[in-house]
Amino acid sequence: MKKILVTGGTGFIGSHTTVELQQKGYQVVIVDNLSNSSADVIDNITKITGQKPIFGKVDVSNKEQLFDFLKQNQGIESIIHFAASKAVGESVQVPLKYYRNNINGLINILEAMKEFKISNLVFSSSCTVYGQPEKLPVTEQSPIQPALSPYGNTKQINEEIIRDFVKVNPEIHAIALRYFNPVGAHPSSLIGELPLGVPANLIPYITQTAAGIRECLSVFGNDYDTPDGTPIRDYIDIIDLANAHIAAIKRMEDNKQKQSLEFFNIGTGNGLSVLELIKAFEEATGVKLNYKIVGRREGDIEKVWADTSFANKELGWKAVVPLKETMLNAWNWQKKVSGIK
Ligand code: WQD
Repeated sequence: MKKILVTGGTGFIGSHTTVELQQKGYQVVIVDNLSNSSADVIDNITKITGQKPIFGKVDVSNKEQLFDFLKQNQGIESIIHFAASKAVGESVQVPLKYYRNNINGLINILEAMKEFKISNLVFSSSCTVYGQPEKLPVTEQSPIQPALSPYGNTKQINEEIIRDFVKVNPEIHAIALRYFNPVGAHPSSLIGELPLGVPANLIPYITQTAAGIRECLSVFGNDYDTPDGTPIRDYIDIIDLANAHIAAIKRMEDNKQKQSLEFFNIGTGNGLSVLELIKAFEEATGVKLNYKIVGRREGDIEKVWADTSFANKELGWKAVVPLKETMLNAWNWQKKVSGIK
């Protein structure tokens, strides 16, 4: 059974990826510092798959902690690296926390790959590297634009660090997945997105408003150059996103890579406006959402969605979960965590 290290594995994307990995025959080892998630997630992953992942409470930005853990857990062949600070707004307020955590964490991972002879890396990157693309849909060749936040900048910097590292370490292969907007929850409602405090992202704010936790959803601007005036994004179901990571691992295991570092846009290829997403949520759940239009949010781009043809062709992967199912899974998860019948 191939052993995979998932850093940040108790987080939203990490936990769903762990479930999909286990169900496809991998042995999963999770490290997480639990700064933005709970160890209960390990029990819930086990309830879904019947396999308890090996877990270490490790801060990947602490090299000694990471190396001590890996000395006790040999035989890892690949790493999927999620562990990072990821709140765009917070990164503007405390940039050094983001640069220290996200960049040191990656450097430690790369050094560990050399030390422990781990061959394959999937790096969690983001469409935020494209900024507001001139041309849409955005392809992997679309120009990288100056980051709009320290968070986004750490993604760009980390991609460059990996590029420079694999160039002189040909025995190590890497794939960077540039996610669009991850949404939804596991159909079991045992794992999902659990934002701490007031949600920054749209879907958790929608589901918390529907659950009565939030009074009203504020729609940040309807004066954009889009059909209904609200910004457009490419919302990708979390299960589809999880499976993209497995497709990337398999590409490297099967030595199908054409470059030592490859990039893939992981989205649905369809853009949806905020109002369209609200309508989709209401239609899927039958819940009328209380929202109001307010001013634009600082730093928001107008519209972005993916050209996924490269991932479709080279990874043999595409997003398949219907939007309605994504909305229902997100709502069922919210009801579960809020104790709503
Ligand atoms: C989506 C749309 C908002 C909340 C960010 C990061 C990206 C990735 C995903 C980490 C926008 C609107 C939102 C609300 C609203 N994160 N909105 N009211 O900003 O596209 O992407 O999260 O990797 O890197 O940049 O996602 O969900 O915050 O916003 O109107 O209460 O919903 O204006 O148009 P975003 P989001």
